Order: sequence, then structure tokens, then C-alpha cells
Amino acid sequence: MFSLINKSVVITGGGSGIGRAISLLFAKQGAAVNILELNEAAAQDTVAEIRLQGGIAHAYACNVTNQDAVKTVFASIGRVDILINNAGIAHVGNLEKTSEEDFDRIFSVNVKGAYNCLYTAVPMMKEVKGGVILNMASVASSVGIADRFAYSMSKGAILTMTLSIAKDYLNHNIRCNCISPARVHTPFVDGFLAKNYPNNIEEMFEKLSASQPIGRMAKPEEIAFLALYLCSDEAGFVTGCDYPIDGGFIRLNN
Ligand SMILES: NC(=O)c1ccc[n+]([C@@H]2O[C@H](COP(=O)([O-])OP(=O)(O)OC[C@H]3O[C@@H](n4cnc5c(N)ncnc54)[C@H](O)[C@@H]3O)[C@@H](O)[C@H]2O)c1
Repeated sequence: MFSLINKSVVITGGGSGIGRAISLLFAKQGAAVNILELNEAAAQDTVAEIRLQGGIAHAYACNVTNQDAVKTVFASIGRVDILINNAGIAHVGNLEKTSEEDFDRIFSVNVKGAYNCLYTAVPMMKEVKGGVILNMASVASSVGIADRFAYSMSKGAILTMTLSIAKDYLNHNIRCNCISPARVHTPFVDGFLAKNYPNNIEEMFEKLSASQPIGRMAKPEEIAFLALYLCSDEAGFVTGCDYPIDGGFIRLNN
């Protein structure tokens, strides 16, 4: 079950956190993992760990906001059976604390980056008569979260992008779903705590943990297991869906 032998996977942001955990698990299941990363050293680190375990992986330095760079990398990979749009960045602030620069930065990575990879990968998938796409959304896609104006909008776009792709490419044997995690303990969380709450990191960490009714953050590996199911042949009937993985955040927070 859940074998990915002979599958070529492209994952963005595989050098850290959730993307790293997905890369390691997919390689373990037999996939050839291609990591597109802004941080090449981090991608190389994931690749080294995969190879150490006998897996197949390649790192590509790539800023997903740049369509030409994305096209060049996909051309050298050659075949894409599974695309995981995972790279994303955070921003804390309500409308009035979101500058035009903040807005453009968040949208260019979180929305345009995913679009660039889809724009390049979908024709390649059509050519081989099928494929699977998984987009990393967030509970912020469907729940109002304080002080996450630009981030929430960008993740809302990921959710509707998922539905649009799933609908338009049904007849091309391309499935497309998204995952909506609540808080996952990754460098992404540590980074924004350090940046936004430098004087009370521990207190904020506890607060963020408690905001999941289950009482903790997710581990990146727990997100990777859901990703594996959704990208496997066993999930052949699953398309056009958003999967919360949230410790009860959406439905039990009352
Ligand atoms: N951690 C959470 O609590 C959480 C919750 C819900 C959703 N998410 C989403 O999951 C995804 C992964 O989050 P994470 O916590 O693992 O983040 P992370 O910061 O640990 O890793 C993200 C990776 O993406 C790479 N990246 C950033 N911009 C890039 C670009 N322009 N081109 C290529 N690579 C780029 C970074 O270098 C980094 O290695 C993001 O889309 C995030 O919004 C995270």
C-alpha cells in the first residue's frame, strides 16, 4: 500500500518543515523526489538525508515566484507525476498593518508561486495522461484568524485554486486536493515567533499550542502521512477536496 515506486515528485520548499517531512516520507515510499527551494543548502541537506537512506532525490535552487526559473527546472526534471505546492511564507498583521510591499510579497510566493508550478506542470501531466496535485492551504483558508490578513487571503486563494484545477482537469485524469493544517511546529512557526514576539516567545508558543483543542501543535511528519495518502493511487477517488488536519481547531474550538 501507498507505494510511490516509479513516481516522479516535485515539491516546493522541501528544505524545511512540512516540505522536508513530505520529501523524506515520499522517498521512503520509492518516489524520485525533486525539491525546488529558495534555500539551496537546506534542499541539499534534505537530499543528503534521503540518499543516506537509499532513496532518490535531487535539489534545484529555484525561486517559485519566477516563472522562467520554474519552467527551466521542470524542463530538466522531465516528468512530473505528483506536484506538491508547499512553499509558503507568513505575515502577521491586520489590514492596517499590511503594507503594499507585504501584500505583494505574500501573494507572489503563496499564490503566484503555486500558479507558476501548476502552469508548468499541468501540460506535462496532460501529456502523460494523468497526475496528482496537492496544495498546502491552511485552516486560515476557511476560518477567520486574527492578525493574518494577507496570509489568510493567500491561503483562501490556494483553496479556490485547488477547486478550479480539480474541475478543469477532471477529464485529463489529474486529481487536485489541498491540506489545511492548523499550527505545525516547524521553522516557519519558530521564525515568526522570533520576529513578531521576540520578548515572549515561550508564552506565545504555549498560546499557539493551546489554540488546537488537542493541546499541541502538529508534527510535520503527521502532515506528511496525509499527503502520502492523498497522492497515492489508493486515493484515486479523491479530488477537489480540502483536508483539515488541525487537532480540532475548526470544529471543536468553542
Ligand atoms: N507551520 C504551520 O503552522 C503551517 C500551518 C498551515 C499551513 N502551513 C503551510 O505549509 C507550508 C510549509 O510550511 P512550513 O511550516 O513547513 O514552512 P518552513 O518555513 O519551515 O518551510 C518553507 C520552505 O519554503 C521555502 N521557500 C520560501 N519561499 C520560497 C520561494 N519563493 N521559492 C522556493 N522556496 C521557497 C523556504 O526556503 C523553506 O525552506 C507553507 O505553505 C505554509 O503556509 C504551515
